[in-house]
Amino acid sequence: MGDFEEACARLRRTDSLFVLTGSGISQESGLPTFRGVNGLWRTHRVEELASPQGFARDPVLVWTWYNERRAAHRDVQPNAGHVAIAQLEERYADFTLATQNVDSLHLRAGSKNVLELHGHLREARCDRCGARRPLEGALQPDEIGHTCGGRFRPDIVWFGEPLPENIWARAAAAAARAEVVLVVGTSGVVEPAASLATRAPRREAFVIEVNPEETAITPRADAILRGPAATVLPRLYETVAGRGVSCGPT
Ligand code: OAD
Repeated sequence: MGDFEEACARLRRTDSLFVLTGSGISQESGLPTFRGVNGLWRTHRVEELASPQGFARDPVLVWTWYNERRAAHRDVQPNAGHVAIAQLEERYADFTLATQNVDSLHLRAGSKNVLELHGHLREARCDRCGARRPLEGALQPDEIGHTCGGRFRPDIVWFGEPLPENIWARAAAAAARAEVVLVVGTSGVVEPAASLATRAPRREAFVIEVNPEETAITPRADAILRGPAATVLPRLYETVAGRGVSCGPT
């Protein structure tokens, strides 16, 4: 049996699926990945933009970057890969999607049980009192200060910061109980998120990787589906749902 067929068979047989996604799933929507050729980290200095120290140094610069990213997220649409994951969710009694992405595209595609490990850009949060405000347009420099004396920051996890405890606990528990783990579009180099696909799953859990390239997850993968998510995932879903062509090599 080839990897694609075996992945289909396992997905058909189980009630319990955990999905981990990274920026690669949004690549075909038109958003850059972090470490790719035109990746976000190649064109920006991370420590200036995605760290508490960077924000303390220059909050306006940090907000300019996040305002731009938010505008980019709003201008794109979920792709067939996001949609296939939302469709898969309907099939499982126990389904959890943990995403490292802050672009909200899974929610816009209709996914319901979504854990946003690194936060999101729908709200800003006061760095002193925790008050929140929705982000509609760009947050202007004169809106950064909060009345409590704190500053509004993007509601995302920066380098050196822990993941939100409650979200992490739910993701780790879901990864540990799943029979099948589907990992899509992540290089698997950022912890602790990557451990949801490597260390958290039980030894007998079946791990499927969807990614055009080899990654840090690949050694743990039982089925490796090399290809772009917006092509591979719809095919996988259609086949699992019994509507596609029969399982064949990818
Ligand atoms: P990376 O840029 O590290 O990895 C993107 C992955 O997507 C690579 O493995 C690519 O091969 C793959 N990829 C590219 N195009 C794809 C496609 N069409 N379909 C499927 N896969 C594709 O991005 P992440 O793994 O998401 O954290 O990075 C993880 C974290 O690092 C991010 O959440 C961010 C960053 O630091 C924070 O900001 C806290």
